[in-house]
Amino acid sequence: MSLVKTAMGKVALIIGVTGQDGSFLSDLLIEKGYEVHGVLRRASTFNTERIDHIYLDSLVRDMKQERHLFLHPGDVTDSSSMLRIIQSVQPDEIYNLAGMSNTRFSFHVPEYTAEVDALGPMRVLEAIRILGLQEKTKVYQASTSELFGDTPIFPQNENTPFNPCSPHAIAKQFGFCITKNYRESYKIFAVNGILFNHESERRGENFVSRKITLSAARIAQGKQEKLYLGNLNAERDWGYAKDYVECMWRMLQHNKPEDFVIATGVSHSVRELCKLAFEEAGIDLEFEGDGMDEVGIDVKTGRILIEVDPMYFRPTDVQKLVGSPMKAKNILGWNPDKTSFQQLVHIMVKNDMELVKNGKK
Ligand code: NAP
Ligand code: GDD
Repeated sequence: MSLVKTAMGKVALIIGVTGQDGSFLSDLLIEKGYEVHGVLRRASTFNTERIDHIYLDSLVRDMKQERHLFLHPGDVTDSSSMLRIIQSVQPDEIYNLAGMSNTRFSFHVPEYTAEVDALGPMRVLEAIRILGLQEKTKVYQASTSELFGDTPIFPQNENTPFNPCSPHAIAKQFGFCITKNYRESYKIFAVNGILFNHESERRGENFVSRKITLSAARIAQGKQEKLYLGNLNAERDWGYAKDYVECMWRMLQHNKPEDFVIATGVSHSVRELCKLAFEEAGIDLEFEGDGMDEVGIDVKTGRILIEVDPMYFRPTDVQKLVGSPMKAKNILGWNPDKTSFQQLVHIMVKNDMELVKNGKK
């Protein structure tokens, strides 16, 4: 495989390239003229669906033409693969997006979560140090608003104390701290993006936003009876993933390594998300009852479309998150208002209505 830089561009390595953010970031960096490399971990089925539009393209393209995306087998739980890949790619920028990103599931696999979310970032930073790439390679670490956990402070910003309350968040706190520590100890340009929830038409189907938009599309087209959810009161600051990956890139172009909160500054409840998504799908929804007995009813037909299932509750849940994007807005010139919550839900439901209509979901 040729590792020759394309068009004098920079070389980026995305760990977690097959995920929601990794795929949008690949699109963005390729558009900016980067040569993009990604880490592909082993899965029992193909896991490149989100990047097939760029990866398969490059496979079928005449090999004399430029390729922009190169995949390398590896895993953040395996130091040797991190060392080997970083050594061969010699990236100008590394985006470590690899994550055991499912908060609820992290309660079931706490040890593995720590391997990926805590030690993963350390392995990446160690590889840079061992390979002597401190001066060359900048690192973006995917930190999270989950770090604020059960906080009484609203909105949360870069100075808000952390109070993580899941194995995922606790492991991510190690990732946050080790990134800061390597920046201070070894002068590596390493930064944390403290990103609040961001969603899209490429979001995994077990996160609440996509679960709701897909179910709304399926119910509206008669392919599903009901949607079962957990905590309807939870509030999140939901933004559009496509806007957020742009800010990841901006953080690495900034003249000094700093950590930034990325958020919209507005939060909504799961219940509000349901109402809006079903409305987008053509169903007027009304909620009745309390607690476990609360139901979402189709106003027109009286049918119960949403029920609460205790299976989806977590041992501890973060009730409300809302971030302040002021630092990113003022210093990086990032626009937190580019895509509103209403627009985001519209994009997701429209996409899912099409997928369901075409029998793809
Ligand atoms: P995602 O869709 O779940 O993608 C996670 C990526 O990490 C996937 O490419 C996954 O590979 C990869 N991965 C998982 N374990 C790995 C391992 N052991 N070695 C190498 N790669 C591994 O998550 P996302 O929404 O894009 O989020 C990206 C990162 O930002 C995650 O670390 C997440 O925790 C963090 N974050 C996300 C949000 C959000 O709201 N989306 C907010 C704050 C922080 P497979 O495709 O093979 O599974
Ligand atoms: N997944 C899910 N499924 N969540 C539900 C459900 C359900 O059926 N019903 C209610 N919820 C509530 C959860 O209890 C939580 O309070 C909220 O919806 C959001 O859940 P998720 O969409 O699963 O996201 P998350 O906030 O736990 O985690 C996401 O955002 C974090 C940043 O704040 C992930 O992307 C994490 O990787 C990321 O760190």
